[in-house]
Amino acid sequence: MRRTIFVASAMLLFGILYPQSNFTQEKTGSAEPKMTPEDVAKKNPVPATPEGLAEARKIYGYDCAMCHGKEGDGKGDLAQDMKLELHDWRDPSTIEKMTDGELFWVVSYGRGKMVGGEVDRSPEKLRWNLVNLIRSFGKKGAAASDKPKTNNPQP
Ligand code: HEC
Repeated sequence: MRRTIFVASAMLLFGILYPQSNFTQEKTGSAEPKMTPEDVAKKNPVPATPEGLAEARKIYGYDCAMCHGKEGDGKGDLAQDMKLELHDWRDPSTIEKMTDGELFWVVSYGRGKMVGGEVDRSPEKLRWNLVNLIRSFGKKGAAASDKPKTNNPQP
């Protein structure tokens, strides 16, 4: 009887301790981190450069375009399949209320149906460059070096 109690409490203790140590270890991983006001206030320390945007575009093509669309229109194949209503980033007003810090956070950790993020895959600088790339979709012509824009309203 004594032994049973001992084993039971040992198991209980293990159960209490183990997920906790897991939790602190994986703060940046699967444990649903929370966006703090400090995250929101973060300024993008990485200036947009052609090299940085090109590097981000590569990763974007692998990890993001299937949902957010090659040019950021939110109409990637997977988004269509999942019936996601994504912002059309070509219209900067869709995300102008979000700070760079917020975008960076979502790029890093994901949000809602955007499961996970780049935090374990891409270094910080590259993630900021992804923010630069996302903003660039909304700047007429800036992101379109490989595709001449035809939908610019001409005065
Ligand atoms: C499975 C589809 C999917 C993939 C892949 C995906 N996203 Fe998202 N993304 C979403 C969804 C859905 C939202 C809206 C989440 C919400 O607010 O609930 C979102 C939101 C965002 C936002 C916040 C701005 C906004 O328009 O709401 C950013 C920034 C973003 N994604 C960047 C990326 C980047 C960069 C990648 C690639 C590393 C990526 N996403 C990959 C589905 C996806």
